[in-house]
Amino acid sequence: MADDIILDIRNVTKKFPGIVALSDVSIQIQRGKIHGLCGENGAGKSTLMKILSGVYPYGSYEGTILYENRELKLEDRSIRQAIEEGIAIVYQELTLVPGMTVGENIFLGKEPMENGVIDWDKLYAETRQILEKYKLDVPPHAIVKNLGVGKMQMVEIAKALSENAKILILDEPTSALSKAEIDKLMAILETLREHGVTCIYITHKLEEFFRITDNVTILRDGKTIITEPTHVFNLEKLVKYMVGREMKERFPPNKRQPGEVIFQVENLVANDPNDTGRKILNGASFDLRKGEILGIAGLMGSGRTELVTTIFGEYGNIISGTVMLNGRPLNIKSARDAMSNGISLVPEDRKGQGLVLIQPILRNISLANLDQFASFFRIDQDAELAASTQQSKNLAIKASNLHARVDSLSGGNQQKVVIAKWLLTNPQILIMDDPTRGVDVGAKFEIYKLMNELAEKGVSIIMISSELEEVIGMSDRIMVMHQGHTGGILDVKDATQEKIMAIATGIEA
Ligand SMILES: Nc1ncnc2c1ncn2[C@@H]1O[C@H](COP(=O)(O)OP(=O)(O)OP(=O)(O)O)[C@@H](O)[C@H]1O
Ligand SMILES: [Mg+2]
Repeated sequence: MADDIILDIRNVTKKFPGIVALSDVSIQIQRGKIHGLCGENGAGKSTLMKILSGVYPYGSYEGTILYENRELKLEDRSIRQAIEEGIAIVYQELTLVPGMTVGENIFLGKEPMENGVIDWDKLYAETRQILEKYKLDVPPHAIVKNLGVGKMQMVEIAKALSENAKILILDEPTSALSKAEIDKLMAILETLREHGVTCIYITHKLEEFFRITDNVTILRDGKTIITEPTHVFNLEKLVKYMVGREMKERFPPNKRQPGEVIFQVENLVANDPNDTGRKILNGASFDLRKGEILGIAGLMGSGRTELVTTIFGEYGNIISGTVMLNGRPLNIKSARDAMSNGISLVPEDRKGQGLVLIQPILRNISLANLDQFASFFRIDQDAELAASTQQSKNLAIKASNLHARVDSLSGGNQQKVVIAKWLLTNPQILIMDDPTRGVDVGAKFEIYKLMNELAEKGVSIIMISSELEEVIGMSDRIMVMHQGHTGGILDVKDATQEKIMAIATGIEA
């Protein structure tokens, strides 16, 4: 094996009951480079990374992995052994303990000891050293839950790097980061590359491959399709290898004709229920037409999620303002109230709010709709199965069968289950909070098509999105939020990324 190859993955196959997650995968990873791993939801990316970090130990897969010229045999599922070998991983979902400090999290389970007690001075001194070495701008004593997602991500990286990491694996690190935070992360990766650390980088934001990686491997259905230097690809080529066909358009055409106004929010002001002195909404106003898609854009913290969860009866204490549906004022106190008025919400945080992870896919899809399938206190299981099967077909959910547990699905496919669940409620107004986060290009297109179909049938949709292209590509009108209020509403014909950003940052009202 050539010296510049740090990791040589040879013919790796990994099977789960009913599914071959990886089939004869071979990849060579060059030392000191950033290696991109690209593929649709369920292609096998996370599974391969879990093999490299010991979550799926030696013996649970077929094939050989050579690491620095010897066979990698990780037998300890706790990933401790992988870390000792110098292989560190930052997972798709954050794993920090919210109530602990940055230092405590970084050294969790490997605290420096002195005469049988934790040596706190040493712990914080070493924390500071790691943070400084990689230019991570986070205070060592801060409590993790008080940090933004971007900083939490940096703590995850620091934690992974706390022992001498040679390989750092990042599985979709940017899906919840703002633009500024992504810039920061890219700078950190460059610093790591200068220090000779090898990175394996997974993302569904395809531009990032061109921005940061040296080489890219594309996986499809558990198989390696191609590995090349990144400059060999362009966006179209990448997509083509990924989905196995040409995709000319990113947004499907639509024949929408929005009708009369059915929903109005006027001057909504609301406080944080946990901190009643803090305003989360400060004059949010918009109206929504029948069969319209209204996009909501804005920076992180501008109040987008707060607005929709407050309307849905789940968050803010409304101080003043009105919400009207079909010309009458609404007084929504809970999600149940909202749903009985025909309003559904696809939440942002799929793990926290969207899914019951240990339940089967089937029940997760039907959960919000059990009334539909219940008669005489029994659930009509045939009807439940039929409806859920139809939804999972529509969204191309990749699973061995619908009785499998939701947590056995890939991240993007879990997101599709959340969407399927809320689509089945037959809402009059469907609110979607960042619906395509972590979803691959092909599946995004399917979700967009479904949104168009629903809107054409007269459903009104409110869609929050951080991707400006998506907001412009899918909306009839775009509301831009700035510091808890409506900064402006643009007709899509007049909207450009620059105009949206100008309103979002408060440069232009
Ligand atoms: N613990 C498990 N039990 C059963 N099947 C699993 C398990 N983990 C993953 N799978 C299946 O293996 C396949 C690959 O999943 P994996 O999580 O590796 O995909 P991925 O490429 O990371 O997708 P995404 O982009 O959505 O994160 C999927 O079909 C998934 O359902
Ligand atoms: Mg994954």
